[in-house]
Amino acid sequence: MLSYPALRPLLFRLDPETSHRLGLFALRAAAALPPLARRLEARYRISAEALAQTLFGRRFPNPVGLAAGFDKDAAAVRALPMLGFGFVEVGTVTPLPQPGNPRPRVFRFPAARSLQNALGFNNSGLAAMRRRLAAARPFPLPVGVNLGKGRATPAEEALADYEALLGALGDLADYLVVNLSSPNTPGLRDLQNEPFLRALLALAARLTGRPVLVKLAPDLEPGEAASLAAAAVDAGAAGIVATNTTTDYSLLPGSQPFGGLSGQVLRDQSRRVLAAVARRVFGRSVLISAGGIDSGQEAYRRIRAGASLVQVYTALVYEGPSLARRINLELLELMARDGFESIWEAVGADLR
Ligand code: FNR
Repeated sequence: MLSYPALRPLLFRLDPETSHRLGLFALRAAAALPPLARRLEARYRISAEALAQTLFGRRFPNPVGLAAGFDKDAAAVRALPMLGFGFVEVGTVTPLPQPGNPRPRVFRFPAARSLQNALGFNNSGLAAMRRRLAAARPFPLPVGVNLGKGRATPAEEALADYEALLGALGDLADYLVVNLSSPNTPGLRDLQNEPFLRALLALAARLTGRPVLVKLAPDLEPGEAASLAAAAVDAGAAGIVATNTTTDYSLLPGSQPFGGLSGQVLRDQSRRVLAAVARRVFGRSVLISAGGIDSGQEAYRRIRAGASLVQVYTALVYEGPSLARRINLELLELMARDGFESIWEAVGADLR
């Protein structure tokens, strides 16, 4: 089997979106060949009871998930368990299909292990998502669905978009995420306010019995993020995903002032927002940490800071399919070092 380090220079000669499409295609092809799929899964999946947790009534075999945006249309969802993740989040899906922003709109910064993207919720829309998720059931891992408002939808009508999405997809997801934090849909981040959150979560409670989480931007002041998280949890949110990409372009020399930055440059901001949110809502919600996680050490730090789960995207681009396995192995070592027999004992350990 070709290794990712050998393939990476070739993939990196292609436009990032083209490489990404190739990657999704390869995953789908591998999943269609059961002997190969079994071999890959045996190579990348760690089975360790110490890493498992039950959250939202579902078993998460390990805490390392695939972040939203990698499989926006659930096109390769059946292949993702092969890569050793403990859960996957698909989307962002909008009510109608939309093409996203003009290309080029994804840029690599290998020296900084970071990416810049201005995709703008390019996706095939909720009907296609519904079909694909239904076809993938029963799914071996918990699957989250990340929901966004359409680009053309004015802020006053945003609630109607989330209503359509929650109504159509609620029964196919193990958890749902309302995405109010992409920088690439004009006005979306302005919906990160308490009145909107309360209205949205009241609506969600009427439409679905499934857990609904709110995904926040790293560019909120930590205190503001904590207040919003508390308001969301008070209004019925089951958890918080912290964070999306940052618009602080000063973090990445050579970046252009549009889109969102992810990967190592996002790490400090993501840690800060998680810490502030955890101080306010840890113990009464599930926290998922994303942003610059690329090792067991970093995942462990977020877990000890209060995250039950972590998510990765950018590090997968740089490291390839062995990422989840390495993070999980390192987590087991760190837990053994500190005397934690189960991951849930480590969750929030630094807050106690
Ligand atoms: C993203 N991310 C993202 N998030 C989201 O909620 N909906 C989406 O559609 C996307 N799309 C997307 C595309 C690309 C190319 C990237 C790099 C990222 C954000 C992602 O889920 C995550 O929150 C951040 O990228 C931070 O994690 P990493 O990448 O630093 O591990």
